[in-house]
Amino acid sequence: MLELRLSSNTMASTFSAAATLLLVSLLSCSLTAAQESKAAPNASSAQINQRVEELLKKMTLEEKIGQLNQVSAANFLNPPNREEMIQKGEIGSFLWSVDSVQLDKYQHIAVEKSRLHIPLLFGYDVIHGFRTVFPVPIAMAASWDPQVPEKAQAFAAREARASGINWTFGPMVDIARDARWGRIVEGAGEDPYLGAAMARAQVRGFQGAELGAPDHVLATVKHFAGYGAAEGGRDYDSVYLPETALRNVYLLPFKAAVDAGVGSLMSAYMDLNDVPASGNRWLLRDVLRAEWGFQGLVVTDALTTNDLIIHGFAKDESDAAYRALAAGVNVDMASRILSTQLPGLVRSGKISVAQIDDAARPVLAVKIRMGLFERPYTDLSKTSAVLSDAAARDYARIAAQRSMVLLRNENRTLPLSKKLSSIALIGPLANDGTDLDGGWGAEGETPAVTVEEGLRKKLPNAVIASARGGEIRRTIPSRFDDFFPGGKKTSPLTPEENSKEFADAVALAQKSEMSVLVLGETANMSGEYASRSTLELPGRQEELLEKIVALGKPIALVIVSGRPLNISWASEHVPAIVMAWQPGSEAGNAIADILIGDTVPGGKLPVSWPRSAGQEPLYYSHNVTQYPESDPTYRSRYWEGPSTPLYPFGYGLSYTSFSITDLRLSKTELKAGDALEATTTVTNTGAIAGDEVVQLYIHQRAGSTSRPIRELKGFARVALQPGESKTVRFTLGKKELTYWSESRRAWVQEPEQFDVWVGGDSNAQLHASFRVAE
Ligand code: NOJ
Repeated sequence: MLELRLSSNTMASTFSAAATLLLVSLLSCSLTAAQESKAAPNASSAQINQRVEELLKKMTLEEKIGQLNQVSAANFLNPPNREEMIQKGEIGSFLWSVDSVQLDKYQHIAVEKSRLHIPLLFGYDVIHGFRTVFPVPIAMAASWDPQVPEKAQAFAAREARASGINWTFGPMVDIARDARWGRIVEGAGEDPYLGAAMARAQVRGFQGAELGAPDHVLATVKHFAGYGAAEGGRDYDSVYLPETALRNVYLLPFKAAVDAGVGSLMSAYMDLNDVPASGNRWLLRDVLRAEWGFQGLVVTDALTTNDLIIHGFAKDESDAAYRALAAGVNVDMASRILSTQLPGLVRSGKISVAQIDDAARPVLAVKIRMGLFERPYTDLSKTSAVLSDAAARDYARIAAQRSMVLLRNENRTLPLSKKLSSIALIGPLANDGTDLDGGWGAEGETPAVTVEEGLRKKLPNAVIASARGGEIRRTIPSRFDDFFPGGKKTSPLTPEENSKEFADAVALAQKSEMSVLVLGETANMSGEYASRSTLELPGRQEELLEKIVALGKPIALVIVSGRPLNISWASEHVPAIVMAWQPGSEAGNAIADILIGDTVPGGKLPVSWPRSAGQEPLYYSHNVTQYPESDPTYRSRYWEGPSTPLYPFGYGLSYTSFSITDLRLSKTELKAGDALEATTTVTNTGAIAGDEVVQLYIHQRAGSTSRPIRELKGFARVALQPGESKTVRFTLGKKELTYWSESRRAWVQEPEQFDVWVGGDSNAQLHASFRVAE
């Protein structure tokens, strides 16, 4: 039996990585080709600090403030005289452009024509791919395999870097416990332990082993902090989170990213406990810098310095600049308020030059760490080869396969028989390449493989016909529709045209041997500015589904969306349901792989799947109420239905079956600070190979505060041949057993009794217990 060893994989901060630096004269930056091709030098903190100080000594106030100024390189919100500003050192970084020729030109101006030759950073939202689009982040979290986002983001970084982008605004690590919030698609779901693992993996993927690694980019952990808890799930709305929720849940993935060496952090848009996150000194200085020792740069979200005024926090632009800087912001994204207001604030004595130096230091340090002074340019002769490298596409398919979650499979409806004579492929998402890829990608991406294309390759002899069944669209358009692929839709169908499409789809299902419905949401229905008040299938999709089920023929449902939707009816009437999320460039191929059974599904839900929007926020790791769900009399907290999710966190089926047995603890009593080992055996009890995600949950029975009913503290995705068993080992030590106590206002490990469960989802029943001694 193979043994897997799991432990908390805290990565040493890349900032502390010891390495050598060739001290290059900062003034002689006109590089020869030979110099450019040298590996990026890395340096000790002391050497980097010395270079920063040398630079600061030479910089004028305006040049220092320039480093804080991030400007749009796109055709909106951009100053007209960008090239002149670069030359004068008035811009430190750009965003929103993927035009590599433009970026290259700007870099040449900065490095060759500005007084101090300081290179520029070029930022872009490389969220789940650049040219090649990988599954959306929530999907990659559903793989429960940190290698998936790590590898995907490494490919994305390589493509972006080859195009001149050296900074991504990801990973987004906001915990989201309310599917109405559209940005749930961008994170890893509801759980801080899973979220921390995905955060670390993405930082490694984007940045490589350390900041400055070739073919990688500077990563940004965002949005600091609490953005996912927007009231009512309404994007940008206020967040009220007590310190216990922040420290035990919402901040943990950020801390994991910081410990993994993330080079930049984005402050969020919203008010956190009445203090805007981007003017929040407690967050940006006390927690981030003083407690966590973050050495990277803090960039605001777009225009957020101006939001300090909109929120009613700052009274005018000068006050906004003062408060942002005082709170700890280093880079002002697109508002240009810092660059216009700080000179006056320094002149009036409200802000000191020392404060400006402090703000500019991390920006300069990041540029040095990235090796940009030595290697500022992109070799554009290599761009197209990198962008067309099939290896990325191949991995996009694997990532999509590993992300899909089989929610229901009665009577072995799936995998589909390869002998099917005809399939009706129905739904508005089956053949929409832009919606299947999920949104973000560079201009020039090819639309995703459609489900029809994918199925045709697998079933060349079957008749596969498609019918959209009517269109779906947002009631209120997104303000991003013009910027992102998928937003640019044709004009709406008339009700009559929609009804005709609906009837055609039902007729097609009627004459086919079976139907595969691909229903859900278009790409612009989730993400930023895409919150909902319900989780119903948009348009007439539910009605279409019920009509086709009523035909009494075999049917399978594939859901394409960035969030869980209300599929309560389907969960009882549709025999097979696959959650495909938004799978990326290889969508259709990966969906076909799963439907046909060439790949066995093994993903698990990173969110508790709600029965309806009314249950939100919903998460497994809640506290025990005085009338728990397990209480026979007061089983439900709603009189019209259960308060439990439709599918629990961690849930997902396979085409094979597993047993998880024999939970053993290496000790049943341990001293605070010591660790024990929990082992369990996972066996593939079915006839085909497959993966099971073994999950470990704990519960502290009493303490200085009430503790959640269960908390995930370990997981492993294990591949098993039929009949094969493996032992999985988890470590439970100080890190797993410590929490922040609201009543003691400290991190504590308490001498208490703990429960442990292992299993295939958050309802795991295999139990043991242990005690932390006095
Ligand atoms: C606003 C979004 O909130 C943020 O996530 C993104 O990185 C910036 N805009 C830049 O596009």
